[in-house]
Amino acid sequence: MKFFVDTADVSEIRSLAETGLLDGVTTNPSLIAKANRPMRDIIAEICEITPGPVSAEVTALDYDGMMREGEHLRKIASNVVVKLPLTEAGLRACKHMVNEGAMVNVTLCFSAVQALLAAKAGATYISPFIGRLDDIGQDGIELIADIMEIYGAYPNIKTEVLAASVRHPVHLLQCAKLGAHVATLPPAVIRSLVKHPLTDKGLDAFMADWKKTGQSIL
Ligand code: E4P
Repeated sequence: MKFFVDTADVSEIRSLAETGLLDGVTTNPSLIAKANRPMRDIIAEICEITPGPVSAEVTALDYDGMMREGEHLRKIASNVVVKLPLTEAGLRACKHMVNEGAMVNVTLCFSAVQALLAAKAGATYISPFIGRLDDIGQDGIELIADIMEIYGAYPNIKTEVLAASVRHPVHLLQCAKLGAHVATLPPAVIRSLVKHPLTDKGLDAFMADWKKTGQSIL
């Protein structure tokens, strides 16, 4: 399973990239707004830090605008993935951009039939939002399960399921059990994955016993 980080905070990305656990990055207009710098500079810098796919979202809502913005974003670096909304215009733009050789991430997916349409449009990634479905009393993980089942029934579908709006480690565990290809995680969630109280307790005990020996390995 690939791990992407869902942020436009370049220092966080740099630090997580050093762990060797990062396979790519996703951004969205809200994350770019939070970083408060020109989008072009942010995406260029992220693409230098990570050789993996970096999703950059268009803000045009019409087909022509999406095509223009997509072309602009793709010129920033070869690892840019154009992020398009799951609308009629977005799917049309997806089909055309993919035919031109672009990588496309279709975002804001909230139903399995939407995911099927994105696959038919040739999307490289489909981004179903788990947490936002949970927020309105629906089951985000059930959506991942439905998409995995449908995509699995059609071996010609090459679109990868990129679980998004992942809020905690249990979401990730459930996505991994379902075989989701990618999960994009906020930095805090990535950092929380390594933690277990018994790891800390065990390490404290080992260190205390080692100290008693008075030895040094070197
Ligand atoms: C995905 O690409 C989105 O940027 C993201 O996962 C949305 O997450 P949120 O619902 O926590 O904002």
